[in-house]
Amino acid sequence: MENNIKLSEVVGSGKDGRILKEDILNFLEKQTGAILPPSPKAEMMPPPSPQKPKDKTIPIPVSRPPVFTGKDKTEPIKGFQKAMVKTMSAALKIPHFGYCDEVDLTELVKLREELKPVALSRGIKLSFMPFFLKAASLGLLQFPILNASVDEGCQNITYKASHNIGIAMDTQQGLIVPNVKNVQICSVFEIATELNRLQKLGTAGQLSTTDLTGGTFTLSNIGSIGGTYAKAVILPPEVAIGALGSIRALPRFNQKGEVYQAQMMNVSWSADHRIIDGATMSRFSNLWKSYLENPSFMLLDLK
Ligand code: COA
Repeated sequence: MENNIKLSEVVGSGKDGRILKEDILNFLEKQTGAILPPSPKAEMMPPPSPQKPKDKTIPIPVSRPPVFTGKDKTEPIKGFQKAMVKTMSAALKIPHFGYCDEVDLTELVKLREELKPVALSRGIKLSFMPFFLKAASLGLLQFPILNASVDEGCQNITYKASHNIGIAMDTQQGLIVPNVKNVQICSVFEIATELNRLQKLGTAGQLSTTDLTGGTFTLSNIGSIGGTYAKAVILPPEVAIGALGSIRALPRFNQKGEVYQAQMMNVSWSADHRIIDGATMSRFSNLWKSYLENPSFMLLDLK
């Protein structure tokens, strides 16, 4: 309506031929030759490519000419954005406790390089996330209060049996948090397979309600876009969430006091301070970190 477009002239690329925002933007672009603002996804996240250089860490933002429209614009908040308003307003009622540390992923980076082609030969892209999720699940087995929920009046705690670990996902539609179900009984490869499925559906805007509900703990890997530090907000009724920064090559000392090139990542945990104390968060974080810094430790505890 804003641009006097007849919808009958626009070809829809959505489900059952539905017309999406991108279709309108493409149509306008063709009509006017104007360069329209790219979607944030297209701008920041090139499609994943298994052939990326080994030392690549952060995608470089594509520079595009800025667009100045010259007039204010008001639009309704809807869809995933509306859901975000509701969840984050509820999250504001939770007293957040923050705890940060750095993790040396040098060994994990090497291990993933070895395993990546094996997973790829089975048709699966293996990122770092499956390891982060598995290590978190092994930690949650020892600290079940972090995989719990509290009722509204904070009178009862329910310790969840399943580790349904949510992954904050950046999509064309906005932020969504699908979860990998029962991580406690999944292998790293099974988690990767499930993550590939969720990412594919998330990109297509086709995640099911089952995929998007029932999460018990969340990880937000903002580092895949960029940034060294982040402070995550708890997703109620969950009680803890972790935000991960970018993996960067930095100098560190080994046990002999020699400097080496380490692959470092910062983690920042946020927990519900009504039921979780700092010592618990710290012990969980130490355990999670030890699994990732020494990936072979995970073998001992894998079922
Ligand atoms: N540091 C450096 N590189 C990283 C990284 C990190 N923290 N995390 C991932 N990467 C790399 C991956 O290993 C991969 O490289 P590769 O091609 O060599 O394998 C590349 O970045 C792309 O990874 P991606 O496809 O994004 O997979 P993923 O499993 O690592 O992450 C999601 C999946 C869903 C978490 C991610 O795509 C995403 O949406 N992140 C944003 C989350 C967000 O918006 N959080 C904020 C919520 S408020």
